[in-house]
Amino acid sequence: MTAPPAIELDRLTKRFGSFTAVDALTMTVNAGEIFGFLGANGAGKSTAIRMLCGLLAPTEGTGTVLGIDVSRDPEAVKRRIGYMSQRFSLYEDLSVRQNLRFFGGVYGLRGTRAREREEWAIDMADLRGKEHRLTGELPGGWKQRLALACAVLHDPKVVFLDEPTSGVDPISRRRFWALIDEMSGYGVTVFVTTHYLDEAEYCHRLALIHAGRLAAQGTVGELKEVFAGRAVLEVTAPRLSEALELLGEQDWALETSVFGTRIHVVVGDAEVGRQRITAALEGEGNPPRSIDRIVPSLEDVFIHHVEEEEARLRAGAAVDPA
Ligand SMILES: Nc1ncnc2c1ncn2[C@@H]1O[C@H](COP(=O)(O)OP(=O)(O)O)[C@@H](O)[C@H]1O
Ligand SMILES: [Mg+2]
Repeated sequence: MTAPPAIELDRLTKRFGSFTAVDALTMTVNAGEIFGFLGANGAGKSTAIRMLCGLLAPTEGTGTVLGIDVSRDPEAVKRRIGYMSQRFSLYEDLSVRQNLRFFGGVYGLRGTRAREREEWAIDMADLRGKEHRLTGELPGGWKQRLALACAVLHDPKVVFLDEPTSGVDPISRRRFWALIDEMSGYGVTVFVTTHYLDEAEYCHRLALIHAGRLAAQGTVGELKEVFAGRAVLEVTAPRLSEALELLGEQDWALETSVFGTRIHVVVGDAEVGRQRITAALEGEGNPPRSIDRIVPSLEDVFIHHVEEEEARLRAGAAVDPA
């Protein structure tokens, strides 16, 4: 038996005036999955999440969470889910325990159940012994764990986390992902946004979003398959920007992008590509210092899809009569 999907989006759209922030997103998140929602700043991640949490009415399309239509019954959705907003909405002038008590009240927890969940949350967030500390004085990583604890106090089956790790140090980030993994282990569906591409490796499946549109989705492995039958070559040359410009003009260079002081060039065949790059750069008196075939990173995948999406948008704009 397969469980019904935890979250479903069907052409979910949000427009602010004439600007489309979320553009006909269609995707499905399975129960118990850690689903990563990746995109640059302004891509539309928070807007999509806020619609799915029943906080913002969709302009068009539908969003369904645990079988509930977010447009029809946003209040029911709010009660059934956990939500950690991009700026943790903790009360800085309350203690750890007071924050937990406050959020427990918001979620309607009372009596023994409220106290049990509070104790559970303190252990989960590893804040035992720190219950009386003022929230505003906690280090970032602790605040982040407290915010997560507050979001899941009422034991929701689906949790939305909006950039939970932004601005937190790497050790705390790793620790936070271990918590997320644990939650998923006991069946909670986690929908999490991030702009740290390395964090995608922690997700079971991913959606890449660009300018409000779904650019790609799948497992990390599936997303990297766009490079099957191609090679990514990493090139260094004395004059980098000239090299980038020259390689970008070659029709055999399927894609070019710059990564710090190196250029990534996607070619059909590694050996042929290597020879062509050498010849092209030598012809300009800018011979390559190195050309190495590399395993494509998620960043390569992301750039690939963003460029494809940009090309599609340009093509769309070209035929648009308006
Ligand atoms: N209330 C609003 N009114 C007008 N534009 C908005 C509003 N909220 C978000 N936007 C715009 O929608 C786009 C997507 O924003 P957002 O969903 O916050 O992106 P992300 O979370 O991926 O950074 C941005 O261009 C943002 O400026
Ligand atoms: Mg955001």
